[in-house]
Amino acid sequence: MEVCQTIAEIRKYVGRARERGIVGLVPTMGFFHDGHLTLMREAAKVCPTVVVSIFVNPLQFGPTEDFRDYPRQPERDLALAREAGVHAVFMPDTAEMYPLPPALFVQVERMDEVLCGRSRPSHFRGVATVVAKLFNVVAPDMAFFGQKDAQQLQIIRRMVRDLNFNLELRAVPTVRDSDGLALSSRNVYLDEKQRVAATVLFRSLDRAQEAIRSGERNREAVEKLMTGMISAESVAQLDYASVLSLPDLDPIEHLEGSVLLAVAARFGRARLIDNVIVKIGSDLKS
Ligand code: PAJ
Repeated sequence: MEVCQTIAEIRKYVGRARERGIVGLVPTMGFFHDGHLTLMREAAKVCPTVVVSIFVNPLQFGPTEDFRDYPRQPERDLALAREAGVHAVFMPDTAEMYPLPPALFVQVERMDEVLCGRSRPSHFRGVATVVAKLFNVVAPDMAFFGQKDAQQLQIIRRMVRDLNFNLELRAVPTVRDSDGLALSSRNVYLDEKQRVAATVLFRSLDRAQEAIRSGERNREAVEKLMTGMISAESVAQLDYASVLSLPDLDPIEHLEGSVLLAVAARFGRARLIDNVIVKIGSDLKS
């Protein structure tokens, strides 16, 4: 496995690797768990060359967020990537990615005004900008993203269309612990009590899904159900529990087609998110 720290090195590597066939990119911020590794394994199934980027992107962290404390473990990450069948890791430092304070950004419209975008105002601008840069640096044929970050996935999908990136996006289902908690690098911040409490996110989504399966079609009723469950958990500080349309993340009143149920809450220092997609057949009653 090749480890490249500069843009010139990874471009040279990809240039040679392209002779073997398509190149897949898995963008990450490191501190790997099985969610990241699943993305890499999925990539390795379809791409003769898999490149993983590890870069904790300062541009997507707010001034009071955990950029400095974000968990980092590069040596362990490299060993895990090697085991997952990765061919090259691109690990630039901040100066390599941002030699100058950026004068241009990928500005997200409307899709970043909901869900996480409300409490993290310039987060998705930072994500879209760094992902666009990684696409330009690596020039992959395919890129792999987790459904776990549903809003990020929809925004990147839209960016690929709107800005004509010549690649195919693949979404990978959320990888969970046995009790339902979605794997996240930020789960390390949880103490024992918070770790138990954090399962309320998935449980609230599960209950909401059940209600929809039993015929509930009212957006407010579904949101109230999730809000009620998360608020009843004393360790959790609710950020949002929302139902939105897919793929555009528009507000809806009546549930039909593909809808996103998404929740976020703080458990001590850890701000955690989770979501599920529900597909509803045409509703004969409406
Ligand atoms: P990071 O949080 O490291 O996540 C990297 C990728 O792993 C993302 O596509 C994310 O959705 C996916 N992922 C995380 N947890 C997952 C889980 N439990 N199951 C499946 N996939 C999971 O997301 C980022 O980094 C950054 O915003 C990035 C896109 C790299 C831009 O900086």
